[in-house]
Amino acid sequence: MTQRMWTDVDQYIDNLLIGRDEALDHALEASDKAGLPQINISASQGKFLNLIARVHGARKILEFGTLAGYSTIWLARALPADGKLITLEADPHHAEIAVGNIAAAGLADRVEVKVGKALDTLPTLTGEGPFDLFFIDADKVNNPTYVRWALDHSRPGSVIIVDNVVRSGLVLDAGSTDPSVVGTREVGALLAAEPRLSATMVQTVGNKGYDGFAFVLVDS
Ligand code: SAH
Ligand code: DHB
Ligand code: MG
Repeated sequence: MTQRMWTDVDQYIDNLLIGRDEALDHALEASDKAGLPQINISASQGKFLNLIARVHGARKILEFGTLAGYSTIWLARALPADGKLITLEADPHHAEIAVGNIAAAGLADRVEVKVGKALDTLPTLTGEGPFDLFFIDADKVNNPTYVRWALDHSRPGSVIIVDNVVRSGLVLDAGSTDPSVVGTREVGALLAAEPRLSATMVQTVGNKGYDGFAFVLVDS
């Protein structure tokens, strides 16, 4: 089993179940053209997030890490007309590209891009919660803080999804000094210890390599 096969199978899935999508394809093209890194979620993962948000009936979504707005568009499309998604992005250039992509997707009325480090912008969100769904996909070192913040601004039934919790298996390295790995392992410990949360992690392969996400339900 190789990266080549994972990519080909993702292509097969995309052709079969997703196909061309003007707004999403444009978002990726604009992202590439602006020189942003290709670290967005895949199309099949984006559709999966969209379906989770719809199954959940999410009306308020908070995203950490916007990049060019690719995952933002998938998630915001799941919202009802009066729903809202707030997405946090530290890099003003990324945010500028994202704002254009979100507007081109016809979602400007439902999405707010907050520019600044999440640790600085989170305190401005008081009064916006509780959120129904969180997608945490920014700087992994701060993930424990983001998960705790999410729990504090959730309700029973809220869902927290954390991207990149496997990183090609790097998460196994208990002695790692890589701050991303340390942050990811701390999230694991937090999820295991927190009695108000039920959590699992699912490993994934695809055109973005070998990784995984955590899926967390706020029980109480
Ligand atoms: N969710 C996006 C990908 C996000 S990539 C998608 O799937 O389409 C991670 C993003 O987090 C980058 O744009 C990076 O600039 C941003 N980021 C990094 N550190 C951050 C911080 N402290 N606060 C907010 N955003 C941050
Ligand atoms: C990176 C970040 C991500 O959120 C991701 O999904 C893949 C890679 C990165 O920073 O390398
Ligand atoms: Mg990610």
